[in-house]
Amino acid sequence: MGRSIVIVGAGVIGLDVALLLAEQGYGPCITVVAEHLPGDTSINYTSPWAGANFSAISGGDANALRWDKYGYEHMLKLAEEHGTEACISKTPSFEYWDELPSPTKIESMAEYLKDFRILSLSDIPEGCQFGVSFTTITVNAPRYIQYLYGVLQEQYGVQFVRRKLPSIEAAFTDVSTKVVFNCTGNGARHLPGVEDVRSYPTRGQILLTRAPQIVKNVMRHGKDYETYIIPRPQSSGNVILGGYMQKGVSTGDTFSSESDSIVERTTTLLPELLTPGMEILAAFSGLRPSREGGARVERTNIQLEDSRDGIIVHNYGAGGTGFQAGLGMARDAVGAVEDVLSRLSREKSRL
Ligand SMILES: Cc1cc2nc3c(=O)[nH]c(=O)nc-3n(C[C@H](O)[C@H](O)[C@H](O)COP(=O)(O)OP(=O)(O)OC[C@H]3O[C@@H](n4cnc5c(N)ncnc54)[C@H](O)[C@@H]3O)c2cc1C
Ligand SMILES: *[C@@H]1O[C@H](CO)[C@@H](O)[C@H](O)[C@H]1NC(C)=O
Ligand SMILES: *[C@@H]1O[C@H](CO)[C@@H](O)[C@H](O)[C@H]1NC(C)=O
Ligand SMILES: *[C@@H]1O[C@H](CO)[C@@H](O)[C@H](O)[C@H]1NC(C)=O
Repeated sequence: MGRSIVIVGAGVIGLDVALLLAEQGYGPCITVVAEHLPGDTSINYTSPWAGANFSAISGGDANALRWDKYGYEHMLKLAEEHGTEACISKTPSFEYWDELPSPTKIESMAEYLKDFRILSLSDIPEGCQFGVSFTTITVNAPRYIQYLYGVLQEQYGVQFVRRKLPSIEAAFTDVSTKVVFNCTGNGARHLPGVEDVRSYPTRGQILLTRAPQIVKNVMRHGKDYETYIIPRPQSSGNVILGGYMQKGVSTGDTFSSESDSIVERTTTLLPELLTPGMEILAAFSGLRPSREGGARVERTNIQLEDSRDGIIVHNYGAGGTGFQAGLGMARDAVGAVEDVLSRLSREKSRL
């Protein structure tokens, strides 16, 4: 039974799919296969490098808005019920734009974000045209994925296997496997089979600092830059400063010129960083698994070599929003195979 459902990838996207399925009772049917597991660090594993926060940065298309809304509601509940263990918390947030965002985007945010308020021009930095405040969710990204990893194994009986798959077909090696979720993030470009040419990395550099005086999120969305300050929950005063959105850049190196620019931009945006001061602990770079046209959440059927039918659900390309949109994406991914799951439930109950 343990291999009926295989999830390839143990980033936040794969873990979110596992969580949703586990909550529906399928935990013992799931094996997660991944080259990197929570606790690892690698440039090919994006999830531990995220800020992370819920932000209005995502696109304005219907999918993105729906995934955001679901993700926000779910994470708000998690922050209230298991905030300490999950390292996730509610935090006041201030976001500013150099150019007006679309009305659809603003309406959607106003509809569900808690304590949402449009700021008056006199309350936002010079050069900005629009600003809002609301209650955001901040996530200690590396610890949150470790939390999910623990809950999935201990509470729900999900199995994890460390393995780099040579192709997606290899996930069907076990004859009992009915469905494979393809949650490989940047693996998109390289995984043999069919390479997705629309996938590309968007590099970010961030600074991990200690500045316990900072208890709110602040971000400024520019035309060609992103500046943000995000306190990390359950971290004794760590704050993430960013950042960059470099399309198509895939180096894991960090650059001191970029660190300097981050310090300059963030301290201008939030001078409190300098009183009494902050300690820079490290610089990191991470690659957001982006995709032309947005994330791909889609079911496809393939014919396997032994002429079995293989069902794959693609779920990758979350870009800069895997933490906030991941649960919404997972809901669509799981919804795409409801028929397979209900057959599985019937088999399970016959055993
Ligand atoms: C600097 C920075 C800040 C960010 N801030 C935020 C934020 O504030 N909020 C937010 O929502 N998002 C944020 N993001 C984006 C977020 O981190 C990503 O959207 C998310 O981590 C993507 O998760 P993933 O599971 O798709 O990919 P990954 O985390 O990269 O996971 C991919 C998984 O697939 C496995 N894999 C790949 N190929 C194979 C193979 N062939 N065989 C076996 N396993 C394989 C890998 O080993 C890994 O387990 C940020 C990203 C960066 C870089
Ligand atoms: C990351 O993945 C790429 C593409 O598969 C590979 O060439 C590179 O060696 C990997 N880097 C590390 C550090 O694992
Ligand atoms: C804040 O959130 C947005 C969207 O989720 C993300 O793109 C951005 O990188 C985040 N900032 C940090 C520091 O993680
Ligand atoms: C699995 O997803 C990757 C992206 O992560 C994609 O490149 C590849 O084509 C997918 N595999 C198949 C068999 O479609």
